[in-house]
Amino acid sequence: MKLSILFALLPLVSAAPANGRPKPRPAPLKYPGLDVLAKRAGLLYFGTAIDNVVLNNTKYVSIAHNRSEFGQVTPSNGQKWMYIEPERNVFNYSMGDAIVKPGIKAGQMRRCHTFVWHNQLPAWLEKGNWTKAELTKVLENHIKNEARHYYDQCYAWDVVNEAFEDNGTWRDTIWLRVLGKEYIELAFKFARKYASPRTRLYYNDYGIERVNNKSLAVAALVKDYVKRDIPIDGVGLQAHFTVGRAPTYENIKASLNLFIKEKVETALTELDVRLALPDSPEKQAIQAEIYANSTKACVDVSDCVGVTVWDFWDPVSWVPETFPGNGNACLLDADFKRKPAYYAISDMLRSYD
Ligand code: G3I
Repeated sequence: MKLSILFALLPLVSAAPANGRPKPRPAPLKYPGLDVLAKRAGLLYFGTAIDNVVLNNTKYVSIAHNRSEFGQVTPSNGQKWMYIEPERNVFNYSMGDAIVKPGIKAGQMRRCHTFVWHNQLPAWLEKGNWTKAELTKVLENHIKNEARHYYDQCYAWDVVNEAFEDNGTWRDTIWLRVLGKEYIELAFKFARKYASPRTRLYYNDYGIERVNNKSLAVAALVKDYVKRDIPIDGVGLQAHFTVGRAPTYENIKASLNLFIKEKVETALTELDVRLALPDSPEKQAIQAEIYANSTKACVDVSDCVGVTVWDFWDPVSWVPETFPGNGNACLLDADFKRKPAYYAISDMLRSYD
């Protein structure tokens, strides 16, 4: 035995009590937090969305801002247009701040969500009779104010969210109707002008986790933007999956590579896996595999920087409202108990140690 190892063991021997039995020592942590493990596996973060409606639940908040579990947070609603600018040129950051500020205090990264979307718009904007010039001003003013308020507080901004249909055509929104296809690049230019130069500017969408018409349309947009120096830094693959219909590890890797090939980074930005209720151990086992495989796909692709779950707690998930009869899509159940999906991600990440 090496002399140095012998010396290292000496204190242990002398610490043994008179009865000769060694003192019990704390067992090593079997399950370090997901962010700790994700970083060890090479990701920048493992994060979660946080919703304002549950900020009065202290147990929820303590888990949400537990940095070893979640190294990054995203407001799932608090930074959307209807809450940030409820009246024209009247800004209210209280809902976004309620998540971003504790995130900063806890040392968590922040992904900010979202400047331009067709959903959750205030009535004044949605019902306005806009000219192209007026709506351009409205867009710039919104991005200017929100980007300045959160200056340097966001690792990334989802600049434009869900602009394409599943078949790869442009979604019919107020933005497209009034501003034409140019609206996406306008939004990125405004974001680059007003956000910190360190902030990564993302296009974010769902249904692009396989190579299909939609992901190819997004990749073509990115290619064109990179070629023309339109400032885009990343593509967020939302990754809202369903037990029985989820893309495979290979599907996700292939899709991530579609975007990385165009020289932008990627992330899984809204991962969750819903199932048809009633729940069962079999469905939870499949759910666990989907969670672990999706996260693994990100770990195994060089420019996939991190994974964010679209909330970690079943009762706050968006799923039951949108897909009646479906639910239990998150990592923790209603009693805050970790589900097989949690352990599957944890075990998969630990395999990189
Ligand atoms: O505005 C009321 C509020 O006044 C009330 O206190 C609250 C209590 O129930 O309900 C509020 O509105 C809800 C809002 O979330 C805020 O909690 C809406 O009814 C509800 O429809 C809305 O759902 C959000 C959904 O976006 C809207 O489309 C989900 O929480 C949010 O998780 C979801 O997030 C989207 C991403 O932004 C983009 N990708 C898809 C993802 C899932 O739909």
